[in-house]
Amino acid sequence: MSTEQQGGQKTATASKVAPATGKLGVMVVGLGAVATTMIAGVEAVRRGLAKPIGSLTQMGTIRLGKRTENKVPMIKDFVPLAKLEDIVFTGWDIFEDNVYESAAHAKVLDEKTLAELKPYLETIKPMPAVFDQYYVKRLHGTHVKQGKNKRDLANQVIADIQAFKKTVDRVVVIWCGSTEIFLEPTAVHESIEAFEKGLEDSDTGIAPSQIYAYAALSEGVPFANGAPNLTVDTKALIELSKKKAAPVCGKDFKTGQTFMKTVLAPAFKARMIGGAGWFSTNILGNRDGEVLDDPQSFKTKEESKLGSLDYIFQPELYPDLYKDIYHKIRINYYPPRGDDKEAWDNIDIFGWLGYPMQIKVNFLCRDSILAAPIALDLVLFLDLAKRSPELRSIGIQEWLSFYLKSPQTAAGLYPEHDLFIQSMKLKNTLRHIMGEDLITHLGLEYYD
Ligand SMILES: NC(=O)c1ccc[n+]([C@@H]2O[C@H](COP(=O)([O-])OP(=O)(O)OC[C@H]3O[C@@H](n4cnc5c(N)ncnc54)[C@H](O)[C@@H]3O)[C@@H](O)[C@H]2O)c1
Repeated sequence: MSTEQQGGQKTATASKVAPATGKLGVMVVGLGAVATTMIAGVEAVRRGLAKPIGSLTQMGTIRLGKRTENKVPMIKDFVPLAKLEDIVFTGWDIFEDNVYESAAHAKVLDEKTLAELKPYLETIKPMPAVFDQYYVKRLHGTHVKQGKNKRDLANQVIADIQAFKKTVDRVVVIWCGSTEIFLEPTAVHESIEAFEKGLEDSDTGIAPSQIYAYAALSEGVPFANGAPNLTVDTKALIELSKKKAAPVCGKDFKTGQTFMKTVLAPAFKARMIGGAGWFSTNILGNRDGEVLDDPQSFKTKEESKLGSLDYIFQPELYPDLYKDIYHKIRINYYPPRGDDKEAWDNIDIFGWLGYPMQIKVNFLCRDSILAAPIALDLVLFLDLAKRSPELRSIGIQEWLSFYLKSPQTAAGLYPEHDLFIQSMKLKNTLRHIMGEDLITHLGLEYYD
């Protein structure tokens, strides 16, 4: 990409993004509630049974040029995205249930919808998983690969990817598996060589999600992470992502409570309203809730959920407003609610002269209904990134932070959590790779 000055305005000349010809293979790790809701949803849309609500790639538009030009194409017509008709799904799970059985168990979609889709959903059967209960205490996997060490397991996943590649034109891997225990990077994550030695030695710092990610990236396949697990958030795997031109992005789908947080907190900060406390609690009764009931998996989720407020409020810049904010997060497993999560936020704010006020948010959401379109968009955009000469070898795709509770960034950069900055960044990236002018919202030209 080069930029040139034209009449005082910067105009970009894009290098060509390859078209999305042929089939896009989507390999999903973990065929649980989110994954089956995404797969069933894509099939329902393909058959004209429903609309892809919540998916920016399918329903969103993008403004090009000046407001007076009225050029607002659909995003999917502006950038070369794979069509839903061209997506082929497969995946891995620690249980043998096919996608129909797993979706029926998750109880997100109603029986009538599932019955209509059953013949298709039944055809998608999981491959045996890489799993170790040490990393997810509440699950007992039965459909699991055996290997002499973690290297052997990685090779088996690589063989699965290579076999699938023969049947499609391009592949993306997405983790929709469970939340693993909290792990921090160790020496084994410092370089590709150290990581590969760690695979040979079955180092405990390498969790199953990292084995899948390593396998995907080694094969030049983009990898998305829907959970808060460490996974590709290490020097070793970022290096591999760049080396193999296999894009990665941050982690943990931004769906319910954090989605709301990253909308409300920027509004308070924009108006210089102070924050004294933010108490967030949740009840949910799906398998994800059961896994998060284990303190070690909860810790991984908690870290992911906690980050956003600190980065948005920047207490070091605004000590009078946010220095003492008390932020607490609770998740309680409550089986009667299934996937229909309920989240409460009590927000203590203060205004002019320090006078206190309160806001209560009660979000009765459907977890997987919110997550499924995000998973779909991440897959489609990572496939786009892989076809973009400018994006494919940069490793982290920060422009996809829009979808994630824990955005990943280059070393030394703070993550951007504000949903509207994230949205602008995403759309400007699309404009940029397609050679369109960026939109700054300055708008002085209308008053010349
Ligand atoms: N639903 C949401 O709104 C939301 C939001 C953000 C993040 N997430 C995360 O997305 C992930 C999936 O959520 P869900 O509600 O679908 O959970 P789920 O429990 O219904 O599904 C997870 C699936 O992963 C499988 N699995 C676990 N470990 C595996 C492994 N090593 N290999 C292959 N399969 C494995 C499980 O058997 C299960 O089928 C969770 O980590 C969750 O925290 C969900």
